[in-house]
Order: sequence, then structure tokens, then C-alpha cells
Amino acid sequence: MKILVVGGGGREHALVWKIAQSPFVEKLYCAPGNPGIAQHAECVDIAVDDIEGLLGFVRTKEIDLTVVGPELPLTLGIVDTFTKEGFAAFGPTRSAARIEGSKEFAKDLMARYGIPTAAYRTFSDRDAAVAYIREQGAPIVVKADGLAAGKGVAVAETVEEAVAAVDQMMVEGVFGDAGSRIVVEEFMFGEEASFFAFTDGKNILPLASSQDHKRIFDGDRGPNTGGMGAYSPAPVITEPLHDEIVETIVRPTVEGMAGEGCPYAGILYIGLMISEGKARVVEFNARFGDPEAQPLLVRLKSDIVPVLMACARGELKEDALQWHDKSAVCVVMASAGYPGDYEKGREIRGLEEAAALEDLVVFHAGTEEKEGRVVTSGGRVLGVTGLGVSVAEAIDQAYKGVDRISWEGVVYRKDIGQKALNRS
Ligand code: AMP
Ligand code: GLY
Repeated sequence: MKILVVGGGGREHALVWKIAQSPFVEKLYCAPGNPGIAQHAECVDIAVDDIEGLLGFVRTKEIDLTVVGPELPLTLGIVDTFTKEGFAAFGPTRSAARIEGSKEFAKDLMARYGIPTAAYRTFSDRDAAVAYIREQGAPIVVKADGLAAGKGVAVAETVEEAVAAVDQMMVEGVFGDAGSRIVVEEFMFGEEASFFAFTDGKNILPLASSQDHKRIFDGDRGPNTGGMGAYSPAPVITEPLHDEIVETIVRPTVEGMAGEGCPYAGILYIGLMISEGKARVVEFNARFGDPEAQPLLVRLKSDIVPVLMACARGELKEDALQWHDKSAVCVVMASAGYPGDYEKGREIRGLEEAAALEDLVVFHAGTEEKEGRVVTSGGRVLGVTGLGVSVAEAIDQAYKGVDRISWEGVVYRKDIGQKALNRS
């Protein structure tokens, strides 16, 4: 089979790394890819939002399956376009991707199908939103309805902060159209975890549990990022809770999407809040998590290619996925300044020394090659992923890799995985 992966971050490196191990693969391409991905796939210089360019490539090379990593091409309808032209593509259609693209759509879906989540109301009028916030009190959460590059959520500790967020979104319009409608919801206490399931729109195949570290600084302090590290499995999701999440959240969501006339195929990402042994939905995403994909895919024993193909073709079987017993921990190494403006073009040293370690994979996210050297080119640069018989050993392994790699101004968290240790 000839496969094209769309994207060029750490998540796509992990996907390419895993897909390349499948005996079904005859040729693997990635658009646009990165220097790490280039070790396993031929990188082609086509941007992720150039749907026509990607379609032309798929047609010329007679690609059998396109696997879409990031949300942007999904919300642009890449799967609709490819399917119409007769090419198999893994990911949700544009209307199914609304589960991520519109908070109001996602909240209404959950209300209609009895999926546990925070209580909420939707507003298109600033004064009505403010009156509701004053009535509810703080803490409270204000969300722009549309996609706002992960920044459209304000977790407000006071009523004044919440009102300021409403004004930013609805009066100042800082998120443009995405903020003209907002969702105001109950603040949920608890511990966050990530849950993923493959689905073909009907059948589901849940993945192992995982947990991200969203804040930039140790101890979950500082601003939110795309994710500074992740591990799998996540002990906060016990086996009975895993089963309960599948039956009370994943299955009704997939059935609900079909019931709404927009069946969801691809990988469904559910951000959860766990409190007192119960899970509620924080948000849905229409794609694999980054960095959660890194520890999950190094633990996955089953061949991923038949699963991806079955999701794209609507033929998924509900046999369980096989996992390696080892735990995996991914530590993200980032550029100075991230998640704000960050430096680029710093030479990365020690990649080969790290690659020589056993039970360690260095996934590239924001890197590029310049005059034969690998340099930094993004906020999140590498995802150093270690395996171990326990979480503690996986943490040690990942940081052994991190210790061998350096560049000027590198930043990373020193406490990735500690939450899991505190529970085991
Ligand atoms: P979202 O983009 O919806 O995932 O929100 C970003 C982050 O805001 C989440 O990862 C949570 O940390 C936090 N958050 C969102 N909604 C809530 C909520 N209802 N209660 C508590 N925290 C929330
Ligand atoms: N790890 C968070 C995300 O992929 O959005």
C-alpha cells in the first residue's frame, strides 16, 4: 500500500514511525513532514491546507490511504474532497469535525444524548452573558464558540475576570468571528486526562489511557501550551472507569453524531475531567492528541495500518488493540519564549547520542534542516519518548534522552509523569 500522512509535527512523526513498521506499507510519504519524519518517509513540500495540491499528489502517486494529522485540513473538508474523488482518507468529514470546531455544537450534542459534561449556556448577546455570569458566580469558564487556536477559553477565578473575557470576545472581537457567540459553563474541579478511540462512524476501538501536561511550568503553573509532555497509561483512569467512559461517553458520542446525520470516522479525542472516580467531558477534538500520540503509539503493539484503513472504509471491527506492557513517557523540549514568541534557528546537538539509547524514540516536531544541520523551527521542537517497565523507569529513560540533547535556550518541564507516580 502507498500511504500519505498529512502534517509535520510530533504527532505526525509518531504516526509515520508506527505506520512505517507495518508490513502492508510499500511506500510512505509525508506532507510536509520534518527532518525526523524523513528517516521513515519521503517528505513532500505541500502545505497541510493546500487541499488541491494534496489531491493532485494523491492522484499522481495513486495513494491508497491518506492519514490526516492536524485539524486545519479536516475543517477545510479534506476528507469530503478526497472521498468524493474516490480516495480513502482517515479522519472526520467537515461536518463531523464541528465536534471540535464549534463548542456550541459539541455542548448541544452532549445535552441531547445525555453525555456527562459541565452545565452551560450559549450567548450571542453580551449583556445576557454578563447577567448569567453574575447570577452563577465564580469560578466559571467562558469559551469562544469557534476555533481560536486553543486560546479561546478563559477559566475565570472571579466574576470580573469572566466579564473581561466576555468583553474581549464579544466587544473587542479578539478572536474575530469565533468569539461572536460564546459558551459560558460551570467550572469543573478534578484531574484532566485524554481519551482516544478509533471509529468508523459506528464501531469503536478505544485506545489505552493517557495524560497531557498543558501548562508551561513545573507544577502545572503558567500559561497553557499545546502540551509539554504526556504519558500512558494514566493511573487516574482505572479499568472500571475506562469501561464506563466507553459506555457513557464514547459510544453515545459516536451514536449521537450518526443520529445528527454527520457520522464521525477517524480518531475521536475526548478531553476529560475526572473527579471522585467519575469522568465528564471538557472538550472534543477531531484528531489525535499531540503529544499524547507519542507515548500511545510507542506502546501500541497492533499494526495500525489495518485499523486506519478500516476506519476510512467503514469496516472497523471491535477487537481490542494490543499494547506493550511497558509505560511510556514523552518529554517535550521547546524553544525559549514558547508559548509566546520564541526563538528559531538554533542548532540541535546530541540527537545521535540520544538515538543510541534503548527504549527511547526522539520525535521531531518543530525542526528543520539547514546546511546539513538540524535546527529549531517551532515552539515545540522535540518529543523525547522513553519506555520502562514502570512509569518511574519510563520517566528516567525519557530524561536520559533529554540530558543528551541541547541547544541554546532549550526549555522543558522537569516533572513530566510525576502525577502518575503520586497515584501508583
Ligand atoms: P478547551 O479548549 O475546551 O480544552 O479548554 C482548555 C482548558 O481549559 C482545558 O484543558 C481545561 O484545563 C480548562 N477548562 C475548560 N473547560 C473547563 C471547565 N468547564 N472546568 C474546568 N476547566 C476547564
Ligand atoms: N495535547 C493537546 C492537544 O493535542 O490538543
